[in-house]
Amino acid sequence: MPYLSPALNVMTAAARKAGRGLIRDFGEIENLQVSLKGPADFVSTADKRTENQLREELSRARPGYGFLLEEGGVVDGPDKSHRFIIDPIDGTTNFLHGIPHFAISIALEREGQLVSAVVFNPVTDEMYVAEKGQGAFLNDKRLRVSARKKLNESILATGIPWLGRGEHATFLAELAAAMSQSAGVRRFGTASLDLAFVASGRFDAYWERGLSPWDVAAGILIVREAGGVVSDLDGGARALETGHILAANEPLHRQVLKLLTDAARSAKS
Ligand code: 2AM
Ligand code: CA
Repeated sequence: MPYLSPALNVMTAAARKAGRGLIRDFGEIENLQVSLKGPADFVSTADKRTENQLREELSRARPGYGFLLEEGGVVDGPDKSHRFIIDPIDGTTNFLHGIPHFAISIALEREGQLVSAVVFNPVTDEMYVAEKGQGAFLNDKRLRVSARKKLNESILATGIPWLGRGEHATFLAELAAAMSQSAGVRRFGTASLDLAFVASGRFDAYWERGLSPWDVAAGILIVREAGGVVSDLDGGARALETGHILAANEPLHRQVLKLLTDAARSAKS
C-alpha cells in the first residue's frame, strides 16, 4: 500500500468492512435470481444497510462531517468544511443481475474540493485510492492513465441511457461517431469503476451523461491524480455539478471532446 493519510485510512477501512457484507449479499443473489419475486427487494435492503454501515463507521472516526448519500441525500454536520460523498453500491443493476462488477465509492470534500477518494470492488478486491497531490493507487501500485494518442487505437467506455432516460438521439449520434473512429466501445455499467479503469489505463477515455455526484466524485479525483483530464461535456470543470463527464488522457481528451461535441451538434441539427 502507498502512504495513506489518516482520512484515507478511515475510508478504506470502512469500505473493506462494508465490502464483506456485500460479498455475502452477492452470494445470495444467485439463489434469488431464479425465484419468482427476484432479488430487487433484497438488493434495495442491502443498499440501504451498506450505506448506513458506511455512515456509522465514518461518523465514528470523523464526528461532525456532513454527508451526501445516494439513498439518504444530504446530511449536514456541525463541521461545514468536510463532507463525505457516498455511493454504497455503484453498479446496482450489475449487482442485481449477479454480475461481479460493482463498487463502493467514497469521496471526501474539504471546503468544496475533492481531497480523498476510494473506489472498492469487493469481488476482485481492487481498492483504488487517491489523495489530492499524492497520486492515485490500485492496491499498492501507482496508477497512470494510458499513453495512447491515437483515437483509432483507443478503447472508449460509456454509459447507455436506460428505461427512457437521457437524450437517445444525442447518445446514438455520439455512439456512431465513437464506433467509427475508435478501436472499440465498452459499457460496463459502473461509473466509479469506469473512471478507475481510465485512471489505470485500461480504458483510454470514458464519457457519460446524466450521472449523480455520488457516481463520479471519487473517480474524478482518482483520474486526475493518475494524470488524466476530467471535464464536463462542454470542456469545463463542472462534471460533478452537471453529471455530464468526459475523462481521458490529455491528447485523447481533446479529440474525444471534439468527437462528442460534433456528434451532439449533428443530432440537434
Ligand atoms: P447506481 O448503480 O449507483 O445507480 C452507469 O450508467 C451509472 O448509472 C452507474 O454508475 C449507476 O449507478 C447508474 N445507474 C442507475 N440506474 C441504472 C440502470 N438501470 N442501468 C445502468 N446504470 C444505472
Ligand atoms: Ca452510482
